[in-house]
Amino acid sequence: MPLPDGFIEEIKFKNDIIDVISSYVNLKRHGRNFVGLCPFHNEKTPSFNVYLQSNSFYCFGCGVGGDLITFIEKIENLSYIEAIRFLAQRTGIKMPENDGKTQELLSIKTRIFEINREAARFFYERLYSEEGKKALEYLKNRGLSSKIIRKFGIGYSPNSRYEIINYLKKKGFKYEEMINANLVYGKNGSKVAARFFDRIMFPIIDLRGNVIAFGGRVMSDQQKPKYLNTSDTLAFKKSLNLFSLNFAKSDNDGSLILVEGYMDVIALHQAGIKNVVATLGTALTIEQARIISRYAKEVVICYDSDEAGEKAAARAIDLLRPTGLLIKVISIPNGKDPDEFVRHYGKDAAVRFFQLIKNSENDVEYRLQKVANNYNLNESNGKVAYLKESVRILALLDNLIEQEIYAGKLSEKLNVPKDAIILQIEKEKKKKKRIIEKKQFLQVQENLSARNDKINVEKFDNLRAATAEEAIIAYIFNNPEMAGEIFCRLSSESFCTSFNKKIYSTLEERFKALRPIGITDLTQDFSSEEISAVAAMVAKESERMSDKDSVLEYIDVVLFEKEKLNKNKIISDYGDENEIMGYMKLLREHKK
Ligand code: CTP
Ligand code: MN
Repeated sequence: MPLPDGFIEEIKFKNDIIDVISSYVNLKRHGRNFVGLCPFHNEKTPSFNVYLQSNSFYCFGCGVGGDLITFIEKIENLSYIEAIRFLAQRTGIKMPENDGKTQELLSIKTRIFEINREAARFFYERLYSEEGKKALEYLKNRGLSSKIIRKFGIGYSPNSRYEIINYLKKKGFKYEEMINANLVYGKNGSKVAARFFDRIMFPIIDLRGNVIAFGGRVMSDQQKPKYLNTSDTLAFKKSLNLFSLNFAKSDNDGSLILVEGYMDVIALHQAGIKNVVATLGTALTIEQARIISRYAKEVVICYDSDEAGEKAAARAIDLLRPTGLLIKVISIPNGKDPDEFVRHYGKDAAVRFFQLIKNSENDVEYRLQKVANNYNLNESNGKVAYLKESVRILALLDNLIEQEIYAGKLSEKLNVPKDAIILQIEKEKKKKKRIIEKKQFLQVQENLSARNDKINVEKFDNLRAATAEEAIIAYIFNNPEMAGEIFCRLSSESFCTSFNKKIYSTLEERFKALRPIGITDLTQDFSSEEISAVAAMVAKESERMSDKDSVLEYIDVVLFEKEKLNKNKIISDYGDENEIMGYMKLLREHKK
């Protein structure tokens, strides 16, 4: 049973779209709508729009759009039903008892959590069994105490492709569920085999305490790959989670330390530094940057001091800056990673580490220093090259006070007038702005191009018709009071492209059944990509602001194009010579 209309209406009514989105995006009024920096991709000038009339949002930069529910799904990484639950809870609305087929998805997810918890228990037990001996020894050799092993639930997956399968089967799990959790390969019973074997297992735990995934490390350098992680499942997206945030979220004084590896987190934790998180085998993502900014005011990047680590740090800085977090960067002396650092200093590790943080550079100083290392500042050539690169770094600063301070420092260091440096920075900023605007413009064009339309694949071949169809659909969302008249004048049968036809006929049916016809009311029946496509129509319509006369014209265009399409179809069905016969047939059919 799908959710009742009344319930969705109440959710819509009580959750103001501007109100909700504003807690994630800094929105500014722009005419009748609102704009801000898109939370779903990294951008410098705002292309994320919220439309009041249709209760929808759309980003011209990345093409993501939808209604309030879609927004919550995406930003909170929730399923449709969970997003509804989230919005219901936010405003104290009671969920209906039976929420239908989406309940099924929720139960698949719940089962993944259950099976992962059971698997974690299995791995932990095996670590202390006979077969886990060498794994336990490995962990002890790396300085981990039994206490920290228990705290992180570290385990061992035995060197068998079947042991865990038999264990989970006994606990009442089906093959399908093991496969859903990505613990097992294979198709429903035929040739199933464990994904993880003979590895140290690190459970990955979300903020609610669910085991959502595993990272598995080999114990010898010969084995490859060094880490095997759970692939994305219905219950896990690696780009949206951070290792150990479950501990760090409440154990920090507004500062989170970002490291590269599981072992770094665990080693620091054991040394008493608990406000540490790591990404899950990928470079930092925009979502993770946003999550960090939700739990802290300051982030301390502490990546390996090799070349790869430095590159990753530079990328992380780019993603973290727009969130407004204060950024510090520490590099550990002698090319060590945090785990080696902790082991090196033993009992003093925490004190030493805090010292490192205290003496750390902020991101700008860090970058300037990195550049300075490349040049000989006693030579004019070196000085000029250094100045050029530094200007580029300072041009990234939006904050003019920061810009002043660093320009001042540079001026002293190189003995060049400060005003000259500021002038260069401003020039560089203008240049950058032009480049960015051009890039964004091209991206917007790409997103709007019909050739690129993956949802309405017929659009490119029926451009005139599809454009008119979309304008009509969008107009209905913006002016639902006009729906009746439009449905009278144009039947869905006259639509040329099937995707638009599907949307239009759904609206028509709902209208006839006296049901509401907003974008939110479609979210149960259409995928989030399809809803994005509808939001795009609304966004484009909001630029045009069609009046009633234009809509009548669009209707004529659709009817005309449909007739043309039918004619062509007859010609191709019957061949040119039989064109007249074809018309006759069409006429006869029409009269029936
Ligand atoms: N990683 C991965 N797959 C690999 C290598 C690394 O997913 N083949 C991820 C893991 O999340 C790992 C992080 O990248 O924790 C950092 O990698 P690395 O520095 O090589 O590992 P450490 O965690 O430091 O492990 P160790 O100290 O045991 O080498
Ligand atoms: Mn390491």
